[in-house]
Amino acid sequence: MQEEKYKYLELNDDDYAVKFNKEPFIFKHSLESCSLLSFTTLAETILKLPKSHVYFSSGNVDITANLDTAHKLFKPEMTLQDAFANIETSGAFVMVREPESDPVFKELFSDLISDVKRFADNIDPGLHGFKLYLFIASPESVTPFHIDRYSTLLFQLQGHKDVNVWTPWDKSLISDFELEQFFSFKEGFSPELKDGYLDTAVVNHIHPGEAVHIPFVSPHWIINSAEVSVSLSIIFNSKRTTNIANALRFNNWYRNKFNISAAPVNNSRIQDAFKASIYNFYQSVA
Ligand SMILES: [Fe+2]
Repeated sequence: MQEEKYKYLELNDDDYAVKFNKEPFIFKHSLESCSLLSFTTLAETILKLPKSHVYFSSGNVDITANLDTAHKLFKPEMTLQDAFANIETSGAFVMVREPESDPVFKELFSDLISDVKRFADNIDPGLHGFKLYLFIASPESVTPFHIDRYSTLLFQLQGHKDVNVWTPWDKSLISDFELEQFFSFKEGFSPELKDGYLDTAVVNHIHPGEAVHIPFVSPHWIINSAEVSVSLSIIFNSKRTTNIANALRFNNWYRNKFNISAAPVNNSRIQDAFKASIYNFYQSVA
């Protein structure tokens, strides 16, 4: 049985390999067995983590809010401790970046990396840049519309959520220009959801024990059910997605320099790798 390869993933269908980084898919996992990830234990652990890793905002944000700035603009009045103590009603959204900086998550992080590599390194070689994110959210919290600079596996541990995902590389939803801008700036620019597209996403309803794959640059937004939600994601890049990211940055530089658009990215692996190598060289000497 293929599942025996993995500690936490339960993937037994070769169809997943075809869909990886092309369309979302739901699969099962066994992370609920990990005592570190219960709400009570997580709340205690998060309160001890460095504040720079913990983003605390209101979960009552509009789908069109800017994810990068929401935690600054929608800052709750209460303390994080109070938000956890009253999580059913506090309207809180808590995101923890790289909790693996605490040794308590070291083994879990290592096991998840092994699982992901066993699954995806043959499909999309050169996996690297693994990071974890933790999310604790009050009922009906929203993660606004956005895209990410990495591929994602999002694991549901408590509560239910709808993960609304669009196919990557739909130029009518996210233009080449928007993608190039997004990859060229760390914060402050986020593509907006265009009129008429809200209902065109694939809705992935996930329960505890289920996970969803969000492909690289797939637009998505998330709404939790009327229950407290606990989830964890692992994010990563591959040689290919890193080349795409740097080719997009090259195109942005080219557009600014010559005032014309370079050929769109993701049409030719050779062209993307070439652009990425020029971008990398420029970065190394700049
Ligand atoms: Fe995301």
